[in-house]
Amino acid sequence: MRITQYIFIITLAFLIISCTNASENDLIDQVDPQLVITYSDYIKPIFDSNCIACHSNPAINGAGVPLTTLSEVQSSIENTNLIDRINRQSGESGFMPLGGSRIPQASIDLIIQWQTEGFAE
Ligand code: HEC
Repeated sequence: MRITQYIFIITLAFLIISCTNASENDLIDQVDPQLVITYSDYIKPIFDSNCIACHSNPAINGAGVPLTTLSEVQSSIENTNLIDRINRQSGESGFMPLGGSRIPQASIDLIIQWQTEGFAE
């Protein structure tokens, strides 16, 4: 075998090994089965910074529902279309937060995941 063939094979083997390792690590980073989206750690801060200026308890500025506790937020998701409201584009009728800018998509996704997982505390 010529030296260039050796170099080619060694380079190829190295590439395959390093690619395999990289994708394993990526998978471990992305799929964390321990991660539970809790109201106190992930959800409450979103509502506190974007919503409770009006959705306090009692709600002010004509905002129908309070959004200050887990049960208030859960109730609004189940009964008053909360997810739909924050998913609208700013300027669209019914958009929330009223008069503000759209909350980041990552936060919307977190709220949806929290709902899907059963509203963990
Ligand atoms: C500047 C005040 C203000 C802020 C901030 C605000 N809202 Fe509202 N919200 C209102 C008003 C006024 C209404 C009633 C009018 C309407 O339904 O559009 C309302 C209605 C709603 C409703 C429907 C309630 C019902 O009884 O049907 C939901 C759900 C809602 N807001 C969610 C949110 C969420 C989630 C946020 C934060 C991301 C937010 N709002 C931020 C003023 C606000």
